[in-house]
Amino acid sequence: KVNERPAKNTQKDKQNGSIELEILAINVLNEAKTPPIDVRSDGREIGEESRLTYRYLDLRRPRMQKNIKNRHAVNLFVRNWLTNENFTEIETPLLTKSTIDTGSRNFLVPSRLENGKFYALPQSPQQYKQLFMVAGMERYFQLAKCFRDEDTRGDRQPEFTQLDLEMSFVEREDVISINERLFIDLIKTLAPHKKIQQIPFPRFSYKEAMEKYHSDKPDLRKDKNDPDLLAFCWIIDFPFFEKTEEGGWTFTHNPFSAPKPEYIDSLMKKETIANILTSQYDITLNGFEIGGGSIRNHKAEALRAVLEIIGQTPEKIDAGFGHMLEAFSYGAPPHGGIAWGIDRLMAIIQNEPNIREVIAFAKTGEGRDLMMRAPSEVSDEQLIELGITVKKPKK
Ligand code: AMO
Repeated sequence: KVNERPAKNTQKDKQNGSIELEILAINVLNEAKTPPIDVRSDGREIGEESRLTYRYLDLRRPRMQKNIKNRHAVNLFVRNWLTNENFTEIETPLLTKSTIDTGSRNFLVPSRLENGKFYALPQSPQQYKQLFMVAGMERYFQLAKCFRDEDTRGDRQPEFTQLDLEMSFVEREDVISINERLFIDLIKTLAPHKKIQQIPFPRFSYKEAMEKYHSDKPDLRKDKNDPDLLAFCWIIDFPFFEKTEEGGWTFTHNPFSAPKPEYIDSLMKKETIANILTSQYDITLNGFEIGGGSIRNHKAEALRAVLEIIGQTPEKIDAGFGHMLEAFSYGAPPHGGIAWGIDRLMAIIQNEPNIREVIAFAKTGEGRDLMMRAPSEVSDEQLIELGITVKKPKK
């Protein structure tokens, strides 16, 4: 029941307002136990194990609500911005094939219908997005889930989200400039209290960055104590290949990258391999790598040359990349793209010390989901259907 009464002009009365609520009945929709963790504080004093175990409660705290809602705002902004620039968001499969795209380990999914065979979860949509270019989808993007079975750290999770994009008929400068415009508009619109230290973003060659800052992701902030300062930076001109411990060659970033145009001859002749520079560009922010991409080899012979240099046998090339080489033989346009790490970008924008604070259901450093208790054992029936026998680890 609402009782209106005339407001007195005192400070206290203004705060309380002039409306008085009289409770006539209470209807309890559901009883609540006292939560095992305090959700009113910002939660930094609570052990992360409890926070991740009771994540559905942890997410109630205002700080987490803000992080998750701001992440939504960033996703929405990016979607609208790219849509305005004629990009199309297209989904790509999660059940795919084990490849060497980013040099990490794949998560594998056993096939029930073909025992002994496995799908792999994608490390990134790299191959699919290039195939969109062959398909004439000239501007693609996706907020894409990626999976990498690698050791987890503050800025790494086994599954994470990329803003992935690819464009046809572009050169390095085109991809860099559209992304730089997007970053600037995004910050100015959604985080106007942040100051971008330098526009246009400074650029360093890998060599310069290593000589000057001993890092390929230098933290360029002039004042490292200013939480609202954003120092973006592009790193370019990376070496394409590096020596492996066994004395062969491996790619430094992405086997699909093209060399810089002036090195295409060396690549095709497989000469002076150590000197070949790639078209790769990384974007860093306050000392973190938040994205990377390249112009790709759109000609089958050039991709084949890269694969041969890194020691792939003809059989492996055919099994792993036959579909790409064939696709490129049907008139693939020149193309290039980039992927941003959305989790890392959000952590920096939200002034959070690690990406788990901006992921609703994050995993621990050991890759465990404490709330769902995954990974977990499965039933014998499931294993039998999959044709899998598990060698029990020694206790
Ligand atoms: P790359 O492997 O550099 O490029 O990944 C792009 C960006 O994704 C983020 N990132 C991660 N974030 C959280 N956890 C992880 N485990 C993780 N690994 C990577 C980083 C990184 O800069 N296909 C290419 C892109 C391209 O060439 O277009 C790719 O995946 O911020």
